[in-house]
Amino acid sequence: MKVLILETADTAQERVVSLIAQTMRDKPNAVLGLATGGTMLPVYEKLVALNKSGGPSFRDVTTFNLDEYVGLGPDHPQSYRSYMNDVLFGKVDINLQRTHLPRGDARNPEDEALRYEAAIAQCGGLDLQLLGLGHNGHIGFNEPTSSLKSRTRIKTLTKETRDANSRYFRADETIPTFAITMGVGTILDARHCLLLATGTQKADAVAAMIEGPLAAVCPASALQLHPKATIVIDMAAAAKLKLLDYYLHVHPDGTAREIV
Ligand code: GLP
Repeated sequence: MKVLILETADTAQERVVSLIAQTMRDKPNAVLGLATGGTMLPVYEKLVALNKSGGPSFRDVTTFNLDEYVGLGPDHPQSYRSYMNDVLFGKVDINLQRTHLPRGDARNPEDEALRYEAAIAQCGGLDLQLLGLGHNGHIGFNEPTSSLKSRTRIKTLTKETRDANSRYFRADETIPTFAITMGVGTILDARHCLLLATGTQKADAVAAMIEGPLAAVCPASALQLHPKATIVIDMAAAAKLKLLDYYLHVHPDGTAREIV
């Protein structure tokens, strides 16, 4: 695990953008796993700016998002498909046909989950999986106690997650109870996992993920098993790490050296 600690949220986001851009430069037809949530909004904003100012092109890139709410069709304003179209896909030179999210309105969500898992495999797997972190340690919508070997499937959202995400819904809207999410095992199959967490409200989950036991109660701790996981955090999110000085010593200024 590479733990890159940047001074501010802004510099942490920039580091993530440069790692994504590096992947796209190395492999112009990269398969990118993408994430949603508030943490990613400035990342996509910076990625759009980079793309517009001559940065790497999305023309040959394929994307698979982590998850989608069951019951929301692609046109629903709170669907993750709408989020991605609004903040990234509609603003860069990507071929929409190569952007994938599970269909939240599929007649049979279980079948849709299987189809999605197979589609990822058919594209040769994920070169880079971008991840946010839930307050309870979830990645994607893999809530605590998710099997660490799980594949894409339906998960019931916790009350905590529904409350945290209620800010995106109107007061008269019902927040979905279920989601289709890549499994922890699906995520671990990505060739590189890149997680971004910023702010003090993520400090407990960050500590559990990096220094806690490998445990299904903190699904993000499964990244401890990954041969190439990069965790990018700001100082606020790093506040509860016991080995903070060590990470800062290994990667001063959040610079990823090859020796870990
Ligand atoms: C959602 C998403 C996750 C995301 C998490 C954190 O529940 N399914 O993929 O990482 O929330 O969201 P935020 O960045 O808004 O804190």
